[in-house]
Amino acid sequence: MGFVIAIDGPAAAGKGTLSRQIADAYGFHHLDTGLTYRATAKALLDAGLALDDEAVAETMAREVELAGLDRDILSAHAIGEAASKIAVMPKVRRALVEAQRAFSKRQPGTVLDGRDIGTVVCPDAPVKLYVTASADVRAKRRYDEIVGRGGVAEYADIFADVKKRDERDMGRADSPLKPADDAHLLDTSEMSIEAAFQAAKSFIDAALKKN
Ligand code: DC
Repeated sequence: MGFVIAIDGPAAAGKGTLSRQIADAYGFHHLDTGLTYRATAKALLDAGLALDDEAVAETMAREVELAGLDRDILSAHAIGEAASKIAVMPKVRRALVEAQRAFSKRQPGTVLDGRDIGTVVCPDAPVKLYVTASADVRAKRRYDEIVGRGGVAEYADIFADVKKRDERDMGRADSPLKPADDAHLLDTSEMSIEAAFQAAKSFIDAALKKN
């Protein structure tokens, strides 16, 4: 079993950037588990299938290939919305969690980021981080990202969307988003990316010494 770093938190908290930096710094494999939910949702949407049939969604979840996941292809707003809907289905979660656990065994180590990594997927991970930021800061970062790419967005719509996604992710019965009891909390509301990375690094280095 490799060394596992579990990173959870709400949408747009900066988990993705942080996870990639950590994986690069330590030479670990990285899996953005949100993409597994997004790929399942995209497969259903592309096939014109309903999003409320758990058995069909489970079949699609079992066919997701971890190697081909690409955030550029899966970033559409409609895919994120659909992903958040099918993520409430226990059979979909079970299928994707199996694939995520298999990934977490890769050597020399892995970084998995998502909503339930420290609580459900890898409860024995030696390092767990819960990365968060206020809803306002997260909405503002997403707004800046879209406008920075030359896109058009309304801040109020993005803020409402962040709140709605939080409610769905934290309110579902199966594997709701919450910090594991032994997670280190990292509130990035007033932190630079570099400061968040340095804080994460100190937790990881301490755990690697004990390992
Ligand atoms: O992080 P993201 O926006 O790509 O995730 C898309 C959806 O997938 C999100 O609304 C909740 C779900 N998800 C989940 O339930 N569990 C995970 N480990 C990762 C994502």
